[in-house]
Amino acid sequence: MADLAIIGGTGLTSLDGLEIIQREVIHTPFGEPSGPLTHGVLNDKAVLFLARHGDGHTIPPHRINYRANIWALHHAGVKRVIAVAAVGGIHAALPPGALAIPDQVIDYTWGRPGTYFEDDLTEVTHIDFSYPYCDELRAMLIDQCKAVGLDVCETGTYGATQGPRLETAAEIARMDRDGCTMVGMTGMPEAVLARELDLNYACCAVSANWAAGKGDGSIISMAEIEENLKSGMGRVRQVLQLLLSNL
Ligand code: HPA
Repeated sequence: MADLAIIGGTGLTSLDGLEIIQREVIHTPFGEPSGPLTHGVLNDKAVLFLARHGDGHTIPPHRINYRANIWALHHAGVKRVIAVAAVGGIHAALPPGALAIPDQVIDYTWGRPGTYFEDDLTEVTHIDFSYPYCDELRAMLIDQCKAVGLDVCETGTYGATQGPRLETAAEIARMDRDGCTMVGMTGMPEAVLARELDLNYACCAVSANWAAGKGDGSIISMAEIEENLKSGMGRVRQVLQLLLSNL
């Protein structure tokens, strides 16, 4: 049974070299996950893969059933989750193509079902979320990035926005003042749901573009995002392969 799951985001809907053992359809008390869980073997290590936006990349960030996805991974018995996510770079250290392992999150999303603790409770539950990501898993990711020769941004605050539209330059300027290093649309409530189910969770973020108004301030095109993600996700694949072989 796999101990580790990888949630693939935009630009990573499958894992190269994954020997697929089984595709498992799971129905959860919270509805349907984004797709079947792919049980496989990569570099001799069992791993579970889930495409966050669905196999055909058709589910927009605000429509993802985060509760079902995380519940399904927990149900499958994994203890650790690496979430791969495309982001826009706000800080100068995150140009397109760069990788970052965030250590904090600010949640700007709204209206997304974001907890397992609301119905049929015996008592009201507040979980600690001071440090949203697992430091051990983060350290592993950072080490593997360095081992493959990547200049990774080792900390950072992930600002999670609602999408699916990109942000205005003023919104990004505000997020910059708030202390956000990067902006993405899927980091929350995924991270908190993993914490609620006691899963060790870390994010490997890939800068797809300068966030609105950053860089030379030009407008952001989907073609640019796709192009940058091709190279960025190539690097993420290298990191994940090495991480699995060193598990
Ligand atoms: N904003 C929000 N999410 C993103 C971006 C962005 O600029 N780029 C990739 N995901």
